[in-house]
Amino acid sequence: MRAAVCVRAGGPEVLETREIPVPAIREGWSLVRVMGAGLNRSELRTRQGHSPGVRFPRVLGIECVGVVAASTDPALPEGTTVAAVMGEMGREFDGGYAEYVLLPDALLMPVTTTLAWEVLAALPETYLTAQGAFDALGIRPGEKLLIRGGTSSVGMAAASIAHGHGVEIAATTRRPEKAGALRAAGVDHVLHDDGGSPITPWPDGPSHVLDLVGASTVADSLRLVRRGGTVCVAGSLSGWLIRDFEPIAMIPSGTRLTAFHSNDAKGSAGAAVLERVVRNVETGVYRPNIDRVFGLDDIAAAHRYMEDNRATGKVVMLPQGTS
Ligand SMILES: NC(=O)c1ccc[n+]([C@@H]2O[C@H](COP(=O)([O-])OP(=O)(O)OC[C@H]3O[C@@H](n4cnc5c(N)ncnc54)[C@H](OP(=O)(O)O)[C@@H]3O)[C@@H](O)[C@H]2O)c1
Repeated sequence: MRAAVCVRAGGPEVLETREIPVPAIREGWSLVRVMGAGLNRSELRTRQGHSPGVRFPRVLGIECVGVVAASTDPALPEGTTVAAVMGEMGREFDGGYAEYVLLPDALLMPVTTTLAWEVLAALPETYLTAQGAFDALGIRPGEKLLIRGGTSSVGMAAASIAHGHGVEIAATTRRPEKAGALRAAGVDHVLHDDGGSPITPWPDGPSHVLDLVGASTVADSLRLVRRGGTVCVAGSLSGWLIRDFEPIAMIPSGTRLTAFHSNDAKGSAGAAVLERVVRNVETGVYRPNIDRVFGLDDIAAAHRYMEDNRATGKVVMLPQGTS
């Protein structure tokens, strides 16, 4: 089979598309024919060598969609459409940048859908994260959500979900030319991220903040959110660690700080959520926000594209090519 192997830590050129053996099936695992895989910022970080514990060579890819080619689990017959995310996929064992992937049965989420592969591939990691963060925020129709890091694929998915639930949305980008894509995703107010605190249209501030920029902005988000509101941190575009974090001083009384990690939405925990997302995409309530589709041979170009922050939404890889 063909697979994009990350041969060592480095730039996009370390992703080499090669012929490697199809993995052998073993008890507790299923062989999946990959039909599509969404690309993620975290794979970029792993490729750069920032994921401790990942040994190269490694086939990256923390998510994929496809069909079961062989399984030792009778509940997963050949031909079942499945999705998978996280669970050390593309880190401890080979992931989705390939024509076939061997995955633990427990990671597989059967999906019933009529969506095209490139659309389905854009959903699992991004929408499970955005939906999980949205649910963690506990936001209701008519409330006011600020999304920081709005043009990231998770940010645009969150905008689409919030829009589908009647929430008023402001979202930040550092590039004003991406405003149109944000509005198309359902954003009501596009805010320029100039590195400072964004000026929201709401005198009392947003009732909720989804912070995907992370370390450098969380303290400001806690200051910005309406007293008693909620900040959910689900991204780390600016880094992982908040310097000198002082909870009592930084979290206003009554304001809530929460987080969401997609590892909590893998396997059986995520299957029902993914079904909900798929139905909402099928009925047009959510938009998949696909920016661009690449073939397996172009995975290095896809990483370069992501690294240059040229995407506005999800970048997808189809192993069978893009035509
Ligand atoms: N909690 C979880 O389980 C989970 C799951 C998936 C992803 N994530 C995290 O969510 C974040 C978004 O991931 P993604 O895959 O959706 O990313 P992505 O699509 O690659 O996002 C790229 C966009 O982020 C913005 N950006 C990049 N660096 C930034 C910075 N330093 N400050 C502000 N904006 C910056 C840029 O937008 P502009 O140029 O328009 O500003 C860029 O186009 C990442 O931190 C990722 O690790 C978390």
